[in-house]
Amino acid sequence: MPASSTIDSLATAPSIDIDPFSTEFLDNPYPSYALLREAGPVVWIPKYGIFATARHEQVHEVLSDHVNYISSAGVGLANFNMETPFRPKSLILEADPPDHTRARTILARILSPKTVMHVRESFAKEADDLLERLAHAAARGEVIDGIKQLAEVYPLKVFPDAVGLETEGRENLLLYGDMIFNAFGPRNELLAKAAEKVQPVTSWIMAHCQRSMLRPGGFGDQIYQAADAGEISQEEAPMLVRSFLSAGVDTTVNGLGNALLCLSQNPQSYAQLHQDPTLARAAFEESLRLESAVQTFFRTTEKSVELAGVTIPKNNKVLAFLGAANRDERQWPEPERFNINRRATGHMAFGTGIHGCVGQVIARLEGELILSGIARRFKRIEIANPPSRRLNNTLRALASLPLRLTAA
Ligand code: HEM
Repeated sequence: MPASSTIDSLATAPSIDIDPFSTEFLDNPYPSYALLREAGPVVWIPKYGIFATARHEQVHEVLSDHVNYISSAGVGLANFNMETPFRPKSLILEADPPDHTRARTILARILSPKTVMHVRESFAKEADDLLERLAHAAARGEVIDGIKQLAEVYPLKVFPDAVGLETEGRENLLLYGDMIFNAFGPRNELLAKAAEKVQPVTSWIMAHCQRSMLRPGGFGDQIYQAADAGEISQEEAPMLVRSFLSAGVDTTVNGLGNALLCLSQNPQSYAQLHQDPTLARAAFEESLRLESAVQTFFRTTEKSVELAGVTIPKNNKVLAFLGAANRDERQWPEPERFNINRRATGHMAFGTGIHGCVGQVIARLEGELILSGIARRFKRIEIANPPSRRLNNTLRALASLPLRLTAA
């Protein structure tokens, strides 16, 4: 629940009677996003006693201002100032400076553009091998599930390989991701279902954050090297490995899945990409804008702040609708249209400010390699059967995307 003194601000923030975590909303949030943006720059959602913003300008403002809008009280609905986090807090995502800076410096170094140059070759080879196998299956007339056979397979191979994880049991990463991202929302059915396996999955994850389970030299081991150098304690190291394992797989799975959906729904754009596979980066970026894998994150007000003329008292939760900001007509011409020729730069799909996604170089590399590989191999990618959704309190996710791939 919010702090007590929300009365004044209610006069200026329109109250909107919706549940952004209901099945209907999550199934197709876009009409509600339009309504929220139209209602005002800041709205009040009585169902949860929270402020929210769906416009690009205010989402940008909230995420850029880590002094007034803090992360250490949680980036989900729960306010850690008032309730205990369901798991030990993340040392990076759920932290403010100076603690955040310490952790961020280490992860940003490990995931620097230079690192990406090192892993590029192996990531490219894995993309080629996977697409080659799918091309054979497609040539036999098989319908390919873009999620189960592609979007889940690739990140589950390349990223844990780079972290230095063994092959067995990697499906736990998807289950863990589903749980973590559901846990940013309320304690609804989705969370209850995801949490059914919480014990074995969390045990597997925590066991695999230990140094003995990580290949020397991999991203995970590099965190322990930072601990050896005294940058963080030995006890903090597994917690930072956990950040890789929570944030590095389910996000890219859905980034890739949503990109495949956009391309298969827009044959003209796909034809253009097929003609010129160097547009893969732009196509991935545009799909992140239009169908953002991460739809929401929260902040908590550190003190009473003013947002677009609305006073938000101290210790209130503010919901930033990233997926709605990315379709704000105040920011983008024809925002509902998938257009790989636009400059999608400035979208909020990776957040912005000091917490802006530290893994975006990796995500972009995966997106570019998969989309350019598809573009080179296939003349057409078409939806063979209706896709089905996997609802999640935070992620925009598909359960399946049956595709017909036609060789070039
Ligand atoms: C398409 C894929 C991805 C999307 C859409 C995405 C999205 C995001 C967003 C929106 C944030 C901001 C959180 C906030 O402001 O509170 C974030 C932060 C973060 N991401 Fe990603 N992410 C992706 C891939 C990755 C990958 C591959 C990794 C790991 C290599 C990763 C690791 C992280 C971490 C550790 C943070 C916390 C950064 C901080 O608090 O300073 N992400 N991500």
